[in-house]
Amino acid sequence: MQDFIQQLSTFLNQKYILTQDADKAPYLTDWRKRFTGKALAVLLPSTSAEVAEIIKLCAKHHIAVVPQGGHTGFCGGATPDNSGTQIILNLKRMNQIREIDKANQTITLEAGCILQAVQTTAAENGFLFPLSLGAEGSCMIGGNLATNAGGTNVLRYGNARDLCLGLEVVTAKGEIWNGIKGLRKDNTGYDLRDLFIGSEGTLGIITAAVMKLYPLPISQWTTLVACDNIASTIALLNLFQKRASALLTGFEMMTCESLTLNEKHFPHMANPLQGNPPYTILIELSDHESEAHVRQLLEAILEEAFETQTITDAVIATNLSQANAFWHMREHITLAQAEEGANLKHDITIPLSSLDRFIQETDALMKERFPGVRIINFGHLGDGNLHYNIAPPLGMDPKTFNEMNEKQIHELIYGQVECCQGSISAEHGVGQLKLDDLRAHKGEVAHDLMKTLKRALDPQNILNPHKVVSI
Ligand code: FAD
Ligand code: MLT
Ligand code: ZN
Repeated sequence: MQDFIQQLSTFLNQKYILTQDADKAPYLTDWRKRFTGKALAVLLPSTSAEVAEIIKLCAKHHIAVVPQGGHTGFCGGATPDNSGTQIILNLKRMNQIREIDKANQTITLEAGCILQAVQTTAAENGFLFPLSLGAEGSCMIGGNLATNAGGTNVLRYGNARDLCLGLEVVTAKGEIWNGIKGLRKDNTGYDLRDLFIGSEGTLGIITAAVMKLYPLPISQWTTLVACDNIASTIALLNLFQKRASALLTGFEMMTCESLTLNEKHFPHMANPLQGNPPYTILIELSDHESEAHVRQLLEAILEEAFETQTITDAVIATNLSQANAFWHMREHITLAQAEEGANLKHDITIPLSSLDRFIQETDALMKERFPGVRIINFGHLGDGNLHYNIAPPLGMDPKTFNEMNEKQIHELIYGQVECCQGSISAEHGVGQLKLDDLRAHKGEVAHDLMKTLKRALDPQNILNPHKVVSI
């Protein structure tokens, strides 16, 4: 090992090779504090060439590499195991924007760019970079692509994969694949870009990307509405899709129990709708025509929704700070859950046509089999993506509750997901958290194909081993 560290220092400045426990500590535990590992060293390269040299050296010494961005992932993908033999490759120093191509409406940037900084740079240049999620102040583009992150704008602009046109990747051999092209059409055989996106660092290290930009909307209007049941929320979504079409940029759902938890930890974020209704929906419209146009459209749709009794209450944000407060309320549910203590997360997608059945049946089964549990269900309803999270009954120690019930709760929920032909990972990925669940739910043929790809691209199994798929 001393040999390995010694050879590293021939091309990477010593101060970017962290081997002391105190220096490594900030990189060893994930955001949820669910996983903590050990590492031989934390390496902080600043160029793709340095990344390539590191991987070549790791291949020579058979040392496993755990790529890391902002370490905000929910599945332990960026956390090393407990062996102390893996290295963490944190890409935060690779944070340069290489180019903004205004005519092509693209931005070329390095993997360590923080998402919020990219949004800001895009806006300063008159563009929208639409990827948006609660962790945007610390997650990085490389991590977003490696997890194929979703967030709140997927409904209109798609997920990280849909926003990506080109990639630069360091392979398991330490070669640099230059796929930095801003093309909207390219059918030159297998789509390597799409293979690396969503592979969570198991097939290659993403060092740079070309991402799409969009014109900034002229006006955005945000509203909170109340629905009595899930069938109404879907009818409302379909109404907005029909009447607002591409102007619909956000459709987020929060249950009464989610917002009760929010208010418990963040009292200033109380639901402005009267009586905390069963379902609160946050809707955003974005317009390129005029403020009057979008406001009139929003009011007309809400009027129709009231007339058909699809909604029972509504409040429209009249200024930017009110609109931000609505979004903060939605985004704080995750933080409220963290304050409350350990909880069981389920990031699932269900076809919208089965969502009503899924929620009614699963809520009933959960309440019957685990009396008193709190179902903290919220998410990107427009994408059929629920964060169907389970908190222990009030007053019960979360760790004890989880130890006793975690397996049965996952099985119940994933069984229901399967019945509805849904997915057990919508946007957060697999990492180490869902390794066994993926094997059980992906289907044998698909799982074997994944293993074949992993063996072909990383025969020594040095890239994030035992994450996503074990070979
Ligand atoms: P990390 O956590 O560092 O890494 C994630 C995975 O990608 C790991 O497997 C890692 O090995 C791999 N990886 C990282 N960088 C690279 C690279 N350059 N090359 C190859 N592999 C790499 N996610 C959503 O999808 N939607 C949400 O709405 C959302 N909201 C969130 C809100 C909060 C408050 C928090 C804490 C998280 C949220 N997340 C959400 C989860 C998380 O932010 C995303 O998964 C994000 O994309 C991870 O980025 P990161 O830079 O933190 O990656
Ligand atoms: C969200 O949509 O807020 C995130 O995915 C976070 C979460 O699931 O808690
Ligand atoms: Zn989410």
